[in-house]
Amino acid sequence: MCGIVGYIGDKNCVPILIEGLKRLEYRGYDSAGVGIINTTECKVVKTKGKVSELEKLVYAEKIQSSLGIGHTRWATHGEPSTINAHPHLNEEKTLFLIHNGIIENYLSLKKGLEKEGYKFNSETDTEVLAHLIDHYLKLKHSLFQAVRYALNEVEGTYGICVIYKGESDKIIAAKKGSPLVLGIGNNENFVASDVNALIAHTKQVVYLEDGEIAEIFKDHFTTKTISDETIIKEIFQVEMGIDEISKSGYPHFMLKEIMDQPESIFNSLRGRLVLDEGISKLGGLEGFEQRILDSKRILITACGTSWHAALVGEYMLEQYAGVPVEVEYASEFRYRNPIIDKDDTVIFISQSGETADTLAAMKEAKKKGALCIGVCNVVGSSIARESDAGVYIHAGPEIGVASTKAFTSQIAVLALITLLLARRKNLSLPEGQEIIAEMKKLTDKVGTILKQNDLIKEISEKYSNARNFLYLGRGYNFPVALEGALKLKEISYIHAEGYPAAEMKHGPIALIDDDMPVVFIATKDSVYDKVISNIQEVRARKGRILAIVNEGDTQIEKMVDHVIKVPKTHNMLTPILTVIPLQLIAYHIAVKKGLNVDQPRNLAKSVTVE
Ligand code: M6R
Repeated sequence: MCGIVGYIGDKNCVPILIEGLKRLEYRGYDSAGVGIINTTECKVVKTKGKVSELEKLVYAEKIQSSLGIGHTRWATHGEPSTINAHPHLNEEKTLFLIHNGIIENYLSLKKGLEKEGYKFNSETDTEVLAHLIDHYLKLKHSLFQAVRYALNEVEGTYGICVIYKGESDKIIAAKKGSPLVLGIGNNENFVASDVNALIAHTKQVVYLEDGEIAEIFKDHFTTKTISDETIIKEIFQVEMGIDEISKSGYPHFMLKEIMDQPESIFNSLRGRLVLDEGISKLGGLEGFEQRILDSKRILITACGTSWHAALVGEYMLEQYAGVPVEVEYASEFRYRNPIIDKDDTVIFISQSGETADTLAAMKEAKKKGALCIGVCNVVGSSIARESDAGVYIHAGPEIGVASTKAFTSQIAVLALITLLLARRKNLSLPEGQEIIAEMKKLTDKVGTILKQNDLIKEISEKYSNARNFLYLGRGYNFPVALEGALKLKEISYIHAEGYPAAEMKHGPIALIDDDMPVVFIATKDSVYDKVISNIQEVRARKGRILAIVNEGDTQIEKMVDHVIKVPKTHNMLTPILTVIPLQLIAYHIAVKKGLNVDQPRNLAKSVTVE
């Protein structure tokens, strides 16, 4: 969750660290800090709050150095404060450490260090590691060995960078469970928790794997395992450009990413549709199709928005590919010893490809011999690297904490997987071709919805004072209801719940009065008439109703307070269209309330801790 950046080279590292931290701030934003070492001084500047606060303090100090590390924090142990912000230091203030992850045995390590006389300033688990490394340095080990020995005592997860006055020609970086990537420059090297912080400087990257430790000099680097075996790492070329991680004139990343959807969906589908054969072509699944079809069942696991996409995947795979599918939260899956074996296929959906629970679930499924398929956005991410096969969603970088374009691209890719499997089973050529024809129209249809942004804003603002919301949908629109409620909760802090519309009368109907907005997702599908009955039930209790309906629907319009119209599409692609007004509703309500849409309180983009 925290952002990490480090630099060693000939330039002044301060602007590089600050700019890198700004690009990583979506990962965590409750406090930030930098540590630099030069020939005359070792300096740490840290503060509670945003990187912009840190920036003022750092530039006021006028520090210059060609070696430094920076960190933006999402608190786990200890409240957000200057003391708890990273870097953490040894007592002599000559060793600086930044850390992403959780050191689970920090209390027992701390006790041992206290017996040796070490004093602690912060409430963090990270400070323990700084002192533990110092302990090994005092035993006359090199910095590399001291870090390695210390990490051998650590239980938990980490992505760390360490710099030390006594060996100021290097950064030591190590990874277990939290992402770290090296950026290889010309007489300068970088390290960061994701490539966003590097691509302004270099496109050449090296992904560290769990249990690896790197010694990074300005002109070369070496890598070993933490049990001291040398490893040779491959250098990859990143395709992403710097323009892809800017707001492009939009006030927020979230709005930009909502508006990006015609293009992001197009990119998810590009080169993957074979109209003549009515099938999709997914290079990442080549050779695995039969094994998937022969599976006893498919399990899909994920967290948050990706879990909602998984539910849509369940509906489409069962309906069209005729394979039994189960969906489970990754956080539950990983701990309940699920019954899975080599005859199962498990699909892991993750925008970031770094979500700790999803990654741990994948390790569990792999151990049990299941075929593991990753559906990720971030190229080269841990889940993408560790899966047996996979499909990238190619939505482009998603920076806003609230996931938007990743959701629609995840559904597009799940539809491609469904089409691939269904055509190998019973789906006819004309049916396959019909799905493809509809997929090709998605870009224009999404554009039509986005053109209604002003209307959606006007309607949304009428509901911005509400304290609770109910989102209801059936069939493919049930996961959309869940997603709409999640979007509203996370960025507007309004309590919202998503339900299958028919479940309302089993409890939530008690909440309905003239103060309760109810959002119905009521497209013309096989359950349309049933949803109309549910609308009537809310109307009878004077609930305020906003409905997402299909173009041409005049029936619902007469029954509800407001409607937003979306084009009709193939039923399994419906969520791609119906979710877009819900994303915009959440966005406009949050903006109206004056909230920080891109960095909502308590959240972080990529949840790399349990
Ligand atoms: O990167 P992932 O897709 O694995 O992330 C999963 C969730 O943390 C994520 O979808 C989260 O729920 C978003 N904030 C939702 O907008």
